Parts: sequence; C-alpha cells; structure tokens
Amino acid sequence: MSALLAAEGLARAYPVQGGLFSPRRMIRAVRDVSLTLARGEALALVGESGCGKSTVGRLLLRLEEADAGRILFDGQDLRAVGTATLRALRRRMQPVFQDPYASLDPRRRIRDVLEAPIRLHRLREGAAVGARAAELMAQVGLAPDGLDKLPHQFSGGQRQRIAIARALAVEPDLIICDEPVSALDVSVQAQVVNLLAALRRDAGVALLFISHDLAVVRHLADRVVVMYAGRIVEEGATEQVFTAPRHPYTAGLIAAAPRTDRGRRVHAPMVGEPPDPLSEPSGCAFAPRCTLATARCNAEAPLLRDVAAVQRSACHHAENVPMPDVPGSAADTPLARRLAIYRRARAAGAIEQEVPHA
Ligand SMILES: Nc1ncnc2c1ncn2[C@@H]1O[C@H](COP(=O)(O)OP(=O)(O)O)[C@@H](O)[C@H]1O
Ligand code: SF4
Ligand SMILES: [Mg+2]
Repeated sequence: MSALLAAEGLARAYPVQGGLFSPRRMIRAVRDVSLTLARGEALALVGESGCGKSTVGRLLLRLEEADAGRILFDGQDLRAVGTATLRALRRRMQPVFQDPYASLDPRRRIRDVLEAPIRLHRLREGAAVGARAAELMAQVGLAPDGLDKLPHQFSGGQRQRIAIARALAVEPDLIICDEPVSALDVSVQAQVVNLLAALRRDAGVALLFISHDLAVVRHLADRVVVMYAGRIVEEGATEQVFTAPRHPYTAGLIAAAPRTDRGRRVHAPMVGEPPDPLSEPSGCAFAPRCTLATARCNAEAPLLRDVAAVQRSACHHAENVPMPDVPGSAADTPLARRLAIYRRARAAGAIEQEVPHA
C-alpha cells in the first residue's frame, strides 16, 4: 500500500539581510528532508528549537513553498496538482498549532467555526450540519452548549480542543500538530495528548506530531524522526530509538529530558549550541558537540543509512553510540505520570470515554 504522505528531498532557505556592505545570506532551515507516513500512523518530529521542525510542517501543508523536493499525498504530487485538486487534498490534511489563542477568531462563535468548513466542503446539509457540530464537540470532550460561546469564554486547553474539533470537521486523513500542548498547563496537556491518541485509534486519523517533549512523543508516536540543523539525523520505531538510540544527538536529547531521581528533578543538559544556520559545515554538523567525533566526522558528512530493522542514522559511528547514562526515571515527571495513569487505565479497560467533559 502506498504511503499516505511521502516527502522527498525537501529544502527551504530563508534570505537574511546582511549589513550595509555584506551580501544577503541564506538560513538553510531545512535541507534534504525525506519522510513517509502510513495511513493511521503517528509520526513524531523532534529536535531542539530552531532545527527546522515547524518549517517542515509548513512545507508539508504547503503554507509555504519548498525550494526543492516533492510531496506526495495519497500518491498525488501536492506541488504539481491544479488548484481544485489541491483544495480537495488540503481538506484531508489539517493543521493544529501551538497557540490556540491565535488560531481562533475572537469574534466568531464556535458554532460558526465548526459549521463553516462542513458547509464549504459540502460534507453535510441542512439540520445535519448542526448535528455534526454537536457531535464534534462531544468527540473532543466539550459540552454542546459551548457551540454558542466565543473563544474567550473557554480555557486554553478547551480552546485547543476546539482547534482539534475544527480540524476534524472536514474529516481529514492526517492532522499535522505543531507543539499542540506546549502552551498548556501540565494537567491539561495530558488530556489533549490523550484526545489525539484516541482520535488516531478510534477515527484512524494519522498524526504528524511536532514536539520537543520526549515524554509525550514516547506516549503517542509509532515512529520518531530526529532533526538537527535542518536535517534528519535519526529515525526509527519509537521504542527502538528511545531504548537504543543510534545517533549521539538522540542520546543527548534523551539524557536532557526532565526526569526524577529519588524525588529530585534532574537532567543532563546537552553541552554546546547548534551550528550557525547561516554556515554549511563540511563534515557532520554535530561534530563540535560530539564526544565520539573523529577526523572522518569533520571531513565527511554522514548520510542517513539503515542501522537496524526499522532504524536509520546519519552517524559514521552509529554502532558505537552508548546509551545515555543518567540517573532517575523519565517516567516520573508530572506529565509522564499522568500519561502512565491513562495508559494503565486503558490497558485495564477502565477508560471508555477518553476525554472527560471539560
Ligand atoms: N520566516 C522565516 N524567516 C527567516 N528565518 C526563519 C523563518 N522561519 C524559520 N526561520 C529559521 O529557520 C530555522 C528553523 O526554524 P523552525 O522551523 O521554526 O525550527 P523549529 O520549529 O524546530 O524550532 C531557524 O533558524 C529559524 O530562525
Ligand atoms: S558522525 Fe561523528 S560527529 Fe557526527 S554524530 Fe556521528 S560520531 Fe558524532
Ligand atoms: Mg517550531
């Protein structure tokens, strides 16, 4: 079966103005990014701030044009199809962004927010439109009387549920979420993460989940793609990547994730800074921060290659990457604890409706 989404060789650079006498230079935000997503799959895109995650999301949604590369959605080339086909394909891939405040028009009632796309795409007619809007509210755990309210009458978590309901209104095959819970309180984060997990499980919606929060990623994603300085440096099945990372950068991210050791919050922050996005390193971009770097690393840029059954790494010394040696447990942060409660309850069959009414 063909992939739902396949991106090949995506690149995007942004011009930045130099000083009066210096030439215009380019920030190479995304370089040669290829990824695939199967129907109903949850794929996470992780990496430090500035590594190019959001740019990849915008390129895939065609909110912004790639300088190079192809994007196939359900086998059709998004960058080559005509306007009508593009509009039809776009309905099937919906974004959910970090800031639910900015993504909702403060003057529009929720009923209009949800009903307008249903009418626009002729998914229901007459009274069925209103019934569908009420159904969407229930699906995201909100009471139906919320339909007649304005965005400011909801909390941040509720607004993010509304943004998810709006994405669902057009019955998408894929939701691209860019840091969808980063702006929310921890207690609400777990609810929204579980809502997304439930949609994927029950409605079969595929997720591209952009996040820097590894606890959430581990809970939600089937596969993980790790980006560094605009490129993919590792990708693989989630548990494989978390338990046996094959890129020193991934190992560093895992070590840097918040964790608890005998009641104390500890973490091992990564040393060094990402490279200047204006420069093109000759060898491996991670070399200045890497304890495994050798002369070869500075001379030759590593290519992404298979290192295990469902795992690829762009590291010359992938086979020698040690497991991060950090005390404590990443499963012991407030959010990870809440997510674990959901996981255990679901395994025991105790959760029927994933999201309590809020
Ligand atoms: N519109 C833009 N103009 C100039 N530079 C940009 C623009 N958008 C992103 N960048 C730069 O591209 C790089 C990648 O940014 P982004 O995709 O937002 O990273 P992430 O989402 O991983 O934090 C950063 O260096 C950022 O400053
Ligand atoms: S290629 Fe070399 S410098 Fe780059 S991550 Fe691997 S070991 Fe480190
Ligand atoms: Mg971002």
